[in-house]
Amino acid sequence: MLRTVGIIGGGQLARMMIVPALELGFEVKVLAEAEKSPAKLAATVGDHTDLQTVREFANTVDVITFDHEHVPLQILEALIADGVNVQPSPKALLFAQNKLAMRKRLAELNVPMPDWAEVSAAEDIDAFLASHGGVAVLKTATGGYDGKGVRIVRSGVDATDWLAEGKALLIEEKVNFVRELAQLSARNSSGQWLAWPVVQTIQREGVCSEVHSPADHADSESAAKIAEAIATGLGVTGVLAVELFETAGGKLLVNELAMRPHNSGHFSIEGSVTSQFEQHLRAVLDLPLGSTEGTSAYAVMLNLLGPETSNTFAENFEKAWVLESNSHIHLYGKEYRAGRKMGHITALSSDSLADARAQALATYNALLA
Ligand SMILES: Nc1ncnc2c1ncn2[C@@H]1O[C@H](COP(=O)(O)OP(=O)(O)O)[C@@H](O)[C@H]1O
Ligand SMILES: [Mg+2]
Repeated sequence: MLRTVGIIGGGQLARMMIVPALELGFEVKVLAEAEKSPAKLAATVGDHTDLQTVREFANTVDVITFDHEHVPLQILEALIADGVNVQPSPKALLFAQNKLAMRKRLAELNVPMPDWAEVSAAEDIDAFLASHGGVAVLKTATGGYDGKGVRIVRSGVDATDWLAEGKALLIEEKVNFVRELAQLSARNSSGQWLAWPVVQTIQREGVCSEVHSPADHADSESAAKIAEAIATGLGVTGVLAVELFETAGGKLLVNELAMRPHNSGHFSIEGSVTSQFEQHLRAVLDLPLGSTEGTSAYAVMLNLLGPETSNTFAENFEKAWVLESNSHIHLYGKEYRAGRKMGHITALSSDSLADARAQALATYNALLA
């Protein structure tokens, strides 16, 4: 019987897994990068890129899972050789760490994607641009998040720095999408798979700012089919987030993958019978998955990105609670920085997305005031 879940990474995702882990009857330990991490309640501090540190941590837990995808795969392979239970396995995790490996593998699975190519020289970029209208999206294969590692290019010259640094790069057709969607689902190691409704995500400057669940009039059947093909095809365990572009014709194209709870699923804490955090734990512990039915017809989540001048979220937190009706404030206990993800608000409504959004916005404004 498994008793202790080990989470590598001490961010808000680990923080939000702590309570459901305890509620499921497990102990939880976190390997965090810093003393003041959001998951400090359960954390020891250590370097997740150091094999010895990760090995010692693994010795104190029964299963290893993740808050982020930055643990080097060689370290995870070494743990597996030691007999450690790592979920998702490094074989699957590769495709969340490396966008080039992901594109290659999804092409084999015939998953719909933007046109793309691997590039290693300015001439490769110019050749792709010549056949794709002169503008494209260049990405570093690894290490990117929140729009870092993604840039619009109009010439091979735009990539001089990344090429000089020897970064593995891929280039993609610049999709003229109508909106971005995300399909969240989870798969346990026995192969049971369940999806939440497909949601709409709204990015500002490359950072997620809003999520609407469910996405209004989306092709939910296609989105779920794509996610299931990826979850089974890649042998994913835990939560799988599939970021999607929706084109004018309603066609869905896969942008990228995450194999852990994801910002697009925060609404599920209040908005779903089973939250993504509980479901991730159920999946990596190979327990039966919980129901993904909504607790309300509509949910809207707003990210609390650090304001420009000061951390008004912390200052106004208690005042804003007065407005609380169906609107729930989550703060991550992070040190304030402008633009940083400091927390989120979820509001539910049985009426409409507009109603849920209006409630969330009222709470948001109270936090900013
Ligand atoms: N091929 C593309 N066409 C148009 N926009 C894109 C494309 N790829 C990425 N983007 C935009 O850039 C954002 C960040 O890209 P993504 O690959 O998801 O990187 P990150 O790892 O930073 O989330 C996307 O959410 C989308 O808004
Ligand atoms: Mg992304």
